[in-house]
Amino acid sequence: MELSDLSKLPSITEESIIAYLKSRLLSNVIYTWAGTNLIAVNPFQDVGTFEHPELNQLIQQLDGIGSPLPAHVHSIAQMAYHGLATGIDQAVIISGESGAGKTFSAHRLLHYLVQLEERGDRGAGHAMEQKLNVSSPLLEAFGNARTTSNGNSSRFCKLFRLSYSDGSLRGGSVHTCLFEKTRVTWQSGGERSFHIFYQLLAGLPAASLRTLGLERWPALAALAGRPGAGDATAFAVTEAAMAELGLSGAQRAAVFAVLAALLHLGRLVVVPEGDRFRVEQDAPLLAASRLMGVLARRDCLARELYDGLFRWLVDWVNVQIAPADAAPRTLSLLDISGFESLECNSLEQLCINYANERLQQFFLASFLRRLEAAFLEEGLLGARLEYADNEPLLAALDGPAPSVFGAVDECGPVAYDARRLIDKNRDRVDPCLTALLAGSSAPLSARRRVRAAATRCWRGYSGP
Ligand SMILES: Nc1ncnc2c1ncn2[C@@H]1O[C@H](COP(=O)(O)OP(=O)(O)OP(=O)(O)O)[C@@H](O)[C@H]1O
Ligand SMILES: [Mg+2]
Repeated sequence: MELSDLSKLPSITEESIIAYLKSRLLSNVIYTWAGTNLIAVNPFQDVGTFEHPELNQLIQQLDGIGSPLPAHVHSIAQMAYHGLATGIDQAVIISGESGAGKTFSAHRLLHYLVQLEERGDRGAGHAMEQKLNVSSPLLEAFGNARTTSNGNSSRFCKLFRLSYSDGSLRGGSVHTCLFEKTRVTWQSGGERSFHIFYQLLAGLPAASLRTLGLERWPALAALAGRPGAGDATAFAVTEAAMAELGLSGAQRAAVFAVLAALLHLGRLVVVPEGDRFRVEQDAPLLAASRLMGVLARRDCLARELYDGLFRWLVDWVNVQIAPADAAPRTLSLLDISGFESLECNSLEQLCINYANERLQQFFLASFLRRLEAAFLEEGLLGARLEYADNEPLLAALDGPAPSVFGAVDECGPVAYDARRLIDKNRDRVDPCLTALLAGSSAPLSARRRVRAAATRCWRGYSGP
């Protein structure tokens, strides 16, 4: 019988763990237990481990009688679901470096939990299940981007909370943080902005693009990277998700208008002229102001606008998936951005890596330290485990250290660039700009108000 739990290995060292996981991966087995944690190795190909009705049936049966479950992501979902019956809220934390497969696993967990309802016919009905299923892909179109380490990298943190009442799924809520809104104005070499821009340009019919003042390809000049073959198809999926979540044609068009305005803003060239600034190109300026009625500091405006659009979408999704009645139990799925060590690391990487180091501490406490304590209790000689403890690093980051930059990470040295940190996040928003954006946060229902605020803002504006 195959060993499927790391804690049963005769010796636990980095080498033995890697050799063991590798041998399993070579036989297309990607999951391994580490105590109550599950390790998933990304196979970067379909190894056909998901649609197994028999496996799912086995998982459900065994969970009820408390036998060890097969090492599989569905087992985690089943255990969490079963745990709800004990009256305790459940949470599944997914961690790993960028590209490790966290978002993929989060999809599998959500899919399984929703399927469980469909099979048992216990849930809030097909419509709610569909809405839950499409919520993540919709937000990922706006919050994910291609980076050097992952073609579909999450640039936002997402806590998906499913609400249960009497053992049935009633709805949910999603809590997000778009920590990398700077991507809308700045991307490293080889990376792209958020997927939705490329999807829009590749997928929107030519006539609709023209209405927005865009053409399919020349508009790309303002964007880093090119659309891939899948962007047009992905746009159809995103638009279908928007429709599924109840966004009317007019609301979808308003969202696309904000995106188009951002593309136009991206093409604005602003040059310093004494203590004021001059806008060099008139055409994109006119297009942006026609669509949005706004004109102000370009990058700051673009970031705030995109952030506002993202929040508006999240709020919309939350209204759509909210349970109709009070649902006392929750099952949460946490999917954050993974650890990154890029050529140039700035504030976003520092925040991402800090969050990941915290999750690593959690893993150390919940698996390795517990395992070590069990070994010592059983008097196993030589059982002291050798592992890198990141506690000192965390102390340096959240403690009263004079500086966090240049800190050496457990995953190897990562150099953080403090200059870019300041430049990229120069987010001093003019008060009138804040007022302006507050006026436009419901996608652009208040255009007249926005235009008036923009006029005031531009008149009173005297440079940064
Ligand atoms: N179990 C799997 N089977 C097949 N392919 C997978 C699996 N897990 C991940 N992948 C592939 O790896 C890619 C990267 O995975 P994913 O986007 O989930 O990483 P991530 O950990 O969420 O990264 P980030 O921190 O950058 O968001 C996916 O787009 C998918 O193609
Ligand atoms: Mg991800």
